[in-house]
Amino acid sequence: MLVLGIETSCDETGVALYHTEQGLLAHQLYSQVKLHSAYGGVVPELAARDHVQKLLPLVQLALSEAKICLNDINGIAYTAGPGLIGALLVGAMFGRSLAWSLGVPAVAVNHMEAHLLVNLLQSPKPTFPFLTLLISGGHTQLVVVRALGDYTILGETVDDAVGEAFDKSAKLLGLGYPGGAALAQVAGKGRAGKIQFTRPMLNRPGLDFSFSGLKTAVVNAWRASTQTEQDKADIAYAFEQAAVSTLVIKCKRAIQQTGIKQLVIAGGVAANQQLRQSLAALAEDLSISLFFPPLEWCTDNGVMVAFTGALYLQAGKRANLSVLVKPRWRLGEDY
Ligand code: KG4
Ligand code: ZN
Repeated sequence: MLVLGIETSCDETGVALYHTEQGLLAHQLYSQVKLHSAYGGVVPELAARDHVQKLLPLVQLALSEAKICLNDINGIAYTAGPGLIGALLVGAMFGRSLAWSLGVPAVAVNHMEAHLLVNLLQSPKPTFPFLTLLISGGHTQLVVVRALGDYTILGETVDDAVGEAFDKSAKLLGLGYPGGAALAQVAGKGRAGKIQFTRPMLNRPGLDFSFSGLKTAVVNAWRASTQTEQDKADIAYAFEQAAVSTLVIKCKRAIQQTGIKQLVIAGGVAANQQLRQSLAALAEDLSISLFFPPLEWCTDNGVMVAFTGALYLQAGKRANLSVLVKPRWRLGEDY
């Protein structure tokens, strides 16, 4: 089965062609970062309009990359949430209508589930049940994955998502948007032990997270500093250390609590190198297996949508003709 996947939930237009026997045949990605950077964040209306412009040319590029034609497609998967409503509507309306005109089934995909499941496209891959740290610009969750569609959320953020904290801290330090990767880069020049931020929520039991206090700690440290480039690097370093160690400690708790010996990280923040290294050390300590996607599959992309859609299409799931998007679609919730 050949599936076209369409991702338009936020500021990236992603398309991919995934074949259930032959694997990934093509993928294309267009990032709107330049468009939004002048505003310091994503402008939803502009995001939607840009998806309208980019989607068809990207699909055409993917088809020629894979050397196939539209009629070879057996199913279409589109992100239906969570995300920005206008942006979601572009991909959903396009994907559903194209499927209808081709006479093939369509399926609505949950963006966070797609982030999580893309790990199954790798080799070696995790086997059910596994634990996932799902970390993006809008979500921070620890999830037990027992089967396709069977998810238990063990803990999540009570305020900002970790990616959001990276982005807001980066903005406060003048590192632009989206600042996560830029902050991580500047943190590489920071000095250990110069500044220390408290790790949020560690003395409380449970597996929830809180990141908004860290962002405040960054503002306060920046204001109290002489605001040199070195100060910026030291603060970025302290922030990254605190964020990473909070995530690692909660993962450790979740592993001990569940006894599950496979940990998967997914979502944009899974691209963070410090986090990967710290989790690799934890995995070695606890003798568990760690899985993370290649960097290009951490942040938003069409591959994860095509792959997740293929799994559900094979399981018989179908979207009806009345197009529905769910901007707040929670992982595991019915569509
Ligand atoms: O999954 P994603 O592309 O979009 C959402 O679904 O939200 O995640 C984007 C998030 C942003 O907050 C971005 O700053 C963060 O991932 N991010 C990083 C890194 N690369 C992307 N955060 C920390 N370190 C990175 N290297
Ligand atoms: Zn995402």
